[in-house]
Amino acid sequence: MRIAVGTDHRGYAIRHKLIELLRGLGHEVIDTGNDSPEPVDYPDVAAGVASLVSRGEVDRGILICGTGLGMCIAANKFPGVRAAPCHDDLTAEMSRRHNDLNVLCLSADLLGERLIDRMVEIWLNTPFEGGRHARRVEKIRQLEQGLGRP
Ligand code: RB5
Repeated sequence: MRIAVGTDHRGYAIRHKLIELLRGLGHEVIDTGNDSPEPVDYPDVAAGVASLVSRGEVDRGILICGTGLGMCIAANKFPGVRAAPCHDDLTAEMSRRHNDLNVLCLSADLLGERLIDRMVEIWLNTPFEGGRHARRVEKIRQLEQGLGRP
């Protein structure tokens, strides 16, 4: 898969290990930065990854900030992006099976390196189940387009 990776200063410490892991698993990594411990604004980093996912230029995106929350809020402003913060094996798995998550947001402050590695592998290897979940994801797409709102 082609995977875009973006981190802010809080994610800086783990960014290289994550990129190494992804390359080791045979994925192509598009590193959108920020490769520095200097503070940056997470919406700028999220936009770099989410715009690639939104335009279909990569298959998936991974974003890391302090909590995973700001990245998620910003990434979800891009059409077709389904971003969420996951925090354990189950959320990593179910975000794929039921929500077809295409941008994984991780917390550098709360998650250990081994947990992140495991979650990323699970997230990359778990397929979307489709069926009734495809109908629900389609409804999210319609909400994004201003359709089907109460
Ligand atoms: C940066 O200080 C911090 O706000 C950011 O990494 C992230 O946690 C935002 O949601």
